[in-house]
Amino acid sequence: MIMQAEKISPPSDDKRWKVVETTIRRNGASADALIETLHSVQEWFGYLDDDALRYVAARLTLPLSKVYGVATFYHFFTLKPQGKHTCVVCNGTACYIKGAKKLIDDIHDRFDVKLGETTQDGQLSVLGARCLGACGLAPAVVVDGEVQANVDSQTLISQLEGLENDDA
Ligand code: FES
Repeated sequence: MIMQAEKISPPSDDKRWKVVETTIRRNGASADALIETLHSVQEWFGYLDDDALRYVAARLTLPLSKVYGVATFYHFFTLKPQGKHTCVVCNGTACYIKGAKKLIDDIHDRFDVKLGETTQDGQLSVLGARCLGACGLAPAVVVDGEVQANVDSQTLISQLEGLENDDA
């Protein structure tokens, strides 16, 4: 029998992935190993990026939205780039059709920050994802670890403003 997991390749030939792979084998490729696996990636690469999260999700057979949720919820994980708060906007086809571009444009207009960047005050990082695996919730975003469904611009902007005000 061919194991499905064997077909999932790491994002690059970087040898550090071999070490991560060893961690996955040791802990078992399941949801229980998620935090341990993310720790291992961060330890070796210094941060978690979209390709890494995508690989971990595939390898542990978890929805990418869940992996993003955990990676953005715990402060000991670092997504690149890292502001105090993180908003991941899904940019996949379903979310794009349902208005992700408007979300990204409106965030840019309000906070003067582009996808993949952090606001000058270091408060908010806005990241893009290529399908969070939650297309039924389109457009979907993950704000500080919490998956939000059917998001509209006004609600999202108010929520992000609220995060900044809470810190004031
Ligand atoms: S395209 Fe956004 S969750 Fe799939």
